[in-house]
Amino acid sequence: LTTPTIGVFDSGFGGLTVLRELLPLVQGAHYIYLGDTARLPYGAKSQATVARYAVESARFLEDRGCTSLVIACNTASALALDEIRAAVQVPVTGVIEPAVQMAHHGREGSEVLVLATQATVQSHAYLLACARRNLQAIEKACPLLVPLVEEGWVDHPVTREVLRIYIAEALLACKPSAVLLGCTHYPLIAAPIAETLREFGIQAPLIDSAHATAQEVGRRLSTEAHAAGAHPATFECFATDSVEKFQRLGSHFLGQPIPRVELLDLGG
Ligand code: DGL
Repeated sequence: LTTPTIGVFDSGFGGLTVLRELLPLVQGAHYIYLGDTARLPYGAKSQATVARYAVESARFLEDRGCTSLVIACNTASALALDEIRAAVQVPVTGVIEPAVQMAHHGREGSEVLVLATQATVQSHAYLLACARRNLQAIEKACPLLVPLVEEGWVDHPVTREVLRIYIAEALLACKPSAVLLGCTHYPLIAAPIAETLREFGIQAPLIDSAHATAQEVGRRLSTEAHAAGAHPATFECFATDSVEKFQRLGSHFLGQPIPRVELLDLGG
């Protein structure tokens, strides 16, 4: 039996929040993580550009021998999942469906607040996926959160103030029964997001798209991976820009040091 090789793709190191969840979940698997750091952020780019970048990355992972792909980036999942699926032969899992499925659980007919990048919100991918499950999504673009998290300001008064402003604006339009973290970076500020919601009297649970996606992939792959051997999962990382920065920032997202990163040139 061959070891399942799972490609995990993101615009940068944020998708390491998905790999972090996957590593203990799917024993015996090998992961190849690709962060397109040279072309980040995706969250402010057009559909055509995000699709072109994401397809190139997905093809690279397939050429490296990946037997399935996880698109950890919410923006790439929202804007380019169909193009990615059409461009490769292997199964592809995005983050939107697993997250919405988790949000849906026991909440039919209710309102879900989705926090995401500008591009994800403009695509309305979450709105449509929620509508298919009889959930009403209120989408709120939070463009300042990605740079704040990358700056390491996860427990910082400025981040709290920015959260207050975004959440106050969003709550003008809804009273959510769940709040969906629709961006790779938001799990790192889950605690201040939950506290800010409580300040506004909202006790709704947070749905983490990274966690939901890892659970879904885990369900699909655990039998296959287990049969290949119950050794701990292994991983290797590629980045399209500074290897040093990827190791430094990425370790916060992965929750462990990243011993080695290979530099990759995808062009453009
Ligand atoms: N990975 C992106 C997402 O989950 C956030 C960072 C970016 O804009 O590239 O939407």
